[in-house]
Amino acid sequence: MSRSERKWDHIRFALENRQNRSTVFDDIKFIHQSLPNIHVSDVRLNDSIGELYLSSPIFINAMTGGGGEKTYRINEQLAIAAKHTGVAMAVGSQMSAIKDKQERYTYDIVRKENPKGIVIANLGSEATIENAKLAIDMIGANALQIHLNVIQELTMPEGDRDFTGSLKRIEEISNAVDIPIIVKEVGFGMSKDTVSSLISAGVSIVDIGGFGGTNFAEIENKRREHSLPFFNDWGIPTPISIIEAVSTGNGVPIIGSGGFSSSLDIAKGLAIGASAIGLAGFFLKILVDEGLEALVKAIENLHMELRMIMTALGARTISDLKKVPLIISGDTYHWLNQRGID
Ligand code: FNR
Repeated sequence: MSRSERKWDHIRFALENRQNRSTVFDDIKFIHQSLPNIHVSDVRLNDSIGELYLSSPIFINAMTGGGGEKTYRINEQLAIAAKHTGVAMAVGSQMSAIKDKQERYTYDIVRKENPKGIVIANLGSEATIENAKLAIDMIGANALQIHLNVIQELTMPEGDRDFTGSLKRIEEISNAVDIPIIVKEVGFGMSKDTVSSLISAGVSIVDIGGFGGTNFAEIENKRREHSLPFFNDWGIPTPISIIEAVSTGNGVPIIGSGGFSSSLDIAKGLAIGASAIGLAGFFLKILVDEGLEALVKAIENLHMELRMIMTALGARTISDLKKVPLIISGDTYHWLNQRGID
């Protein structure tokens, strides 16, 4: 199967197999405040994460590119939506365009459509320093995501089998490029141990890419004859992974992603310590099923609703939101308890 056929398979299966919202977010509850002492217009959604200035904590996470005309159109429309709503946008893995120059137009449209926006490059952890520089230059990137996707590769029939040396390559890239490096998972979450290792390697931002949204084990299992079903339920749920990552406590910004599809869950993700929230499958589905206008409206609605929730909680800024009191119950409580995380 060609790389571009595989990219289209991923999009098709991701759309067909959208999971129901993960109930793990229900373990987190805000405590109502009757005297928030705030005007809705006081709420500010902008924040800086490390060296990256974001006008919204919501961004479009890495999805596609390199699959010819179809992925070109998707990236073009995602970029238009990002520009209209002021959100940052990551492109999908650029390795195909590094190997084949003819694929590059499917990525550089993202910068062409949104010359002043925050645009994030993307590569896997097999990337070299040279690959990283090419990917960054290709779209004039403001940051580079390096994705970790061991379970996806293992489940993919044609996937990688050698996972040695990733941390070393990430460290080398972090030292060699002068924009923020965001290391991300793709839906299996990260433990605090992984996050600590990444921070020691000089990574400036971590996106925990947790379990509970797009499920690449299920997607790849549908594409193979002998499936590996035990990977379908493998991973650390997004809210738990955010708290694990934040508990490493050294101030490196943590991004939450994996299964976000509502303003309330986004507010919860921020309140438990994430500095920004990435959405992939939810935005893709709206774009493909309902079109560009619907996607712009959906992002605007998320912004409006987030303002309402922050008002109710008396939080003027994203930093304030991180300090609001909340209750953690159920499996999330037990998990954190056993891991010795407050
Ligand atoms: C992805 N994702 C992804 N991630 C990455 O780092 N590089 C990539 O090339 C891709 N490709 C890709 C294609 C498609 C069709 C989807 C839906 C997703 C993973 C994505 O960025 C995110 O980590 C996961 O999808 C989990 O988030 P959601 O979808 O639950 O919001």
